[in-house]
Amino acid sequence: MQTLTDSFGRRITYLRLSLTDHCNLRCRYCMPEDAHGSGRARRLSLEETARLVGLFARMGVERFRLTGGEPLLRKDLVPLAAALTSLPGVRDLSLSTNALLLEQSAAALAAAGVGRLNISLDSLQPERFADITGGGDLAAVLRGIEAARAAGMTPIKLNMVALNGINDDEITAMAEFAQARGLELRYIETMPVGGQGEWSMRHHLPAEQIMVRLKEHYGTDLLPQHEGAGGPARMYRIGAHGPRIGVISAVSRHFCASCNRVRLTAAGDLVLCLGNENSVSLREPMRAGMDDEALCDLIRAAILRKPERHDFNAPQVAPLRPMYALGG
Ligand code: 5AD
Ligand code: SF4
Repeated sequence: MQTLTDSFGRRITYLRLSLTDHCNLRCRYCMPEDAHGSGRARRLSLEETARLVGLFARMGVERFRLTGGEPLLRKDLVPLAAALTSLPGVRDLSLSTNALLLEQSAAALAAAGVGRLNISLDSLQPERFADITGGGDLAAVLRGIEAARAAGMTPIKLNMVALNGINDDEITAMAEFAQARGLELRYIETMPVGGQGEWSMRHHLPAEQIMVRLKEHYGTDLLPQHEGAGGPARMYRIGAHGPRIGVISAVSRHFCASCNRVRLTAAGDLVLCLGNENSVSLREPMRAGMDDEALCDLIRAAILRKPERHDFNAPQVAPLRPMYALGG
């Protein structure tokens, strides 16, 4: 079976699946307070999702990530994960979550084959956490993290969106929290995506600034890791045996040249780039009865339309799909 390569010679080996655009939080950089997710009728069923993932796997996609919105809001998440990990060619299934509901399902998810976990955590201060997330309960998130550790999920990565004037004084506290628990940590620069893009960029903290704070604190203990190992993140280790930390700077230093990924929304739209409106609906032809062969042709043709790079730095950024529909 022919693999997926775009018109710039990039091989697509990674698919991010947004399973829902609903969320039980309202992070200020992500979701407007009055946002409400879309209806269920367009949402791909477990069977439809598994069918598409099977086709992507046949075309050489090896790694899949379940995202949202908040994927744990899907009642069928555990059977869905189990169905996906049992498909031939699916090498790696990971999950991105806010961990609010993780305590209850970590063990079942681990048993279903979800190993890698990314958890959003922007503050270790309960009131500040609630303020950033629109009322989130930090204690529940921390219990979720412990449940994931107890279930043996690994690696567990924390994602901290670094926000100037909001949580930038917790950059090193978060590294220490991660270090004490053997977790990885990534600092994420805000991106101008969706309705909250303007707010996000008002609190944009460039990766260089994050690095300055880390270097001030850790000095020569901050050891750069070789390029390439962390995907879009620049990776460091704190001391020879300390935790791995990474800085993801999509805006100040884009990594489009090595992009290996595309995204599938909950409604079955194949989105070719986070910073671009280009998408192709797989739901409609699938529901109209298209066979596997034709669906693969449609996916291959779509991949050829993947743009060379995002244009977040352009003065006028097009209105983009919100992050909660794309899963980061
Ligand atoms: N900028 C950067 N990252 C964002 N996310 C959501 N909105 C934004 C934004 N405006 C990402 C974060 C978060 C994940 C769920 O989505 O990484 O942890
Ligand atoms: Fe929900 Fe994640 Fe967006 Fe926060 S960042 S509102 S947890 S989807």
